[in-house]
Amino acid sequence: MGKNIAVDGPAGAGKSTIAKKVAKNLGLIYVDTGAMYRAIGLYMLRNNIDVSDEEAVNQACDQISVSIQYVNGEQQVLLNGENVNGFIRKEEVGNMASKTSSYPKVRAMLLDAQKELAQKQNVIMDGRDIGTCVLPDAELKIYLTASVQTRAKRRFDELVEKGVECDITEIEKDIEQRDYQDMNRTIAPLKQAQDAVLVDSSNLTIEQVCETIINLYEER
Ligand code: DC
Repeated sequence: MGKNIAVDGPAGAGKSTIAKKVAKNLGLIYVDTGAMYRAIGLYMLRNNIDVSDEEAVNQACDQISVSIQYVNGEQQVLLNGENVNGFIRKEEVGNMASKTSSYPKVRAMLLDAQKELAQKQNVIMDGRDIGTCVLPDAELKIYLTASVQTRAKRRFDELVEKGVECDITEIEKDIEQRDYQDMNRTIAPLKQAQDAVLVDSSNLTIEQVCETIINLYEER
């Protein structure tokens, strides 16, 4: 095992922004595991699979392969060989990903690939179960969170900037629902690993969060 960093936390806490910056600073490879679940969610959407039907999802899984490749240092997620990076960021795909990620077969499909990625190189990997399941021996574990209100406000600002009309109360509701789904599933639910450091980014800048993580890593 190399010197890996595991970053877990709820949707919208800033995991990917932070992990990308820390990766650059420390010379680690950034692995976004949510993108792999999103690729599976995208397949379900494209093929009109009823994701409340576990058997239907299981059958669909037999038709799916998800892998990761790096092009110019950027992670690309391949769904049956197709680079789907441009299709997985929508809210509905995230929601599908959250729903299908509660099924054992979906999680088992991705777990080994994720472990393997961290064996080949030193990584900073983010997701929901990295410190608890994927990399239980990570050198440093971070549980990055922020209040629902803060996360909703950040998302709202992002959408407004893109010119998308939205309602902050709706966004708050979506975030609460996603938190509930991710924290209450039976296998590998989102929770802080016992040995993870809790970082609440509600009142911190991106730079302050990065600095905290980099300092912790360098102390180890
Ligand atoms: O981080 P994200 O929003 O891209 O993740 C999308 C969904 O995928 C998330 O709501 C739950 C699931 N997921 C998971 O179950 N385990 C992970 N390690 C990463 C994501």
